[in-house]
Amino acid sequence: MNIVVIGTGYVGLVTAACLAECGHQVNCIDIDKEKLKKLKRGDIPFYEKGLKNIVLKAVKNKTLSFSKNYNQSLNQVEAIFLCVGTPPKVNGKPNLSYLKNSLTSIAENLENDVAIFVKSTVPVGTNKFAKEFIQKKIKKDLKISFASNPEFLKEGNAVSDFKKPDRIIIGTDDPLVKKVSKEIYKNIATSKKLIFTSIESAEIIKYASNAFLATKIAFINEISRLSDHFNADIKEIKKGMSMDERIGEHFLNSGLGFGGSCFPKDLDGLANRFREFGIPSSIPNAVRLSNNQQINYFSKKITGNLIGKTSCVMVWGLAFKGGTDDVRESPSIKLIKKISNKYKEIYAYDPLAIFNAKKELVGFSNIKFIKDKYEFIKKCDCLIIATEHSEFKSVDFKKIGKMKNKLIFDGRNILNKQQAEKHGFIYHGIGV
Ligand code: UDX
Repeated sequence: MNIVVIGTGYVGLVTAACLAECGHQVNCIDIDKEKLKKLKRGDIPFYEKGLKNIVLKAVKNKTLSFSKNYNQSLNQVEAIFLCVGTPPKVNGKPNLSYLKNSLTSIAENLENDVAIFVKSTVPVGTNKFAKEFIQKKIKKDLKISFASNPEFLKEGNAVSDFKKPDRIIIGTDDPLVKKVSKEIYKNIATSKKLIFTSIESAEIIKYASNAFLATKIAFINEISRLSDHFNADIKEIKKGMSMDERIGEHFLNSGLGFGGSCFPKDLDGLANRFREFGIPSSIPNAVRLSNNQQINYFSKKITGNLIGKTSCVMVWGLAFKGGTDDVRESPSIKLIKKISNKYKEIYAYDPLAIFNAKKELVGFSNIKFIKDKYEFIKKCDCLIIATEHSEFKSVDFKKIGKMKNKLIFDGRNILNKQQAEKHGFIYHGIGV
């Protein structure tokens, strides 16, 4: 099929590349000319496992192209995916200006009937608004079918999540969309994974899924505080809980809490929607508050056990989660900002995210970014692990044993406490 994807961020580029790889002709549109130039030569502006090779191969096979030009790109298009950003405004409501601008450009340049799939995360009711918005803008007698098709892509795993989805949600009231959807996704998911709902249900499924996952994390983190207090073991607690298949084991890893561009934004978006319509709700706001408390809780562990402005600290992990270079709403960055004025120097290491972290930590002059996680270890009085990058699982205890204090604060419970203590370290996890 002839597909256009609007927006080349995490969601748009992964969607476009994977659809091109499974046989569609895909053209990406973006307003950022610099970004388009980089993409045409295979420069991906963010780290996503496996994406670069897919993009390079599809560009070479001419099944994937990039342009800023709507009228050329929309020629004979059969399906359009809207993957533009909906970043939160100051009041927490999603900014829909990029969505409106894209719809206006589509209306001005479209020459044939088309199905529009909104992949951007938008508050429930927005697709209905968008459908009416574009109908008013379209000057020609064209049939525009509409669907809400939310994404469920985890950063660092987005390509695999797209190719092997748990489910594909298509919210629509238009039979044509069902036919087009089956054609688009025929090489990606069997029909039993293609779930058709109303538009509003699809919009809510997205917010509800993210908010529920965030709630799971906040819940186990509160339990980890109780576990700390009573000297229990949160890993045992997780095991005992997760054997109940209604609870399951995923998203029950306690640590510094959740960050990223989605969970915080979607919780706020959901809370706003409830508030806007006077619908009683307390969970989304409570989860946000609980998540912030976890960073305070862990920072007190550090400052309560390492005192002195002459002390130096080693921090491993700056990204909001392991396997990504993204630092948006990173709990690690928030923790560093909270403790940085308590210590003389902070040595900060991350395998992927240093470039992005430097932008977030401008002005924090006592932070030294290092390329080797064992460099300067001798100068440090403790090691803090703040992101669950897999390389931190195999720590060289001999090398970190050269610290002035054999003191570890493990914000992701990534190390084994008994093993660390066997090597002579004082080990503080969260709930272990
Ligand atoms: C999330 C959703 O998982 C995805 O479906 C949606 O489309 C986008 O938002 P993402 O934010 O990329 O994906 O990462 P995710 O793997 O969900 O982790 C989110 C945060 O939760 C990270 O900060 C991670 O460190 C934290 N987390 C995750 C925990 O603290 N404990 C866990 O058990 C799992």
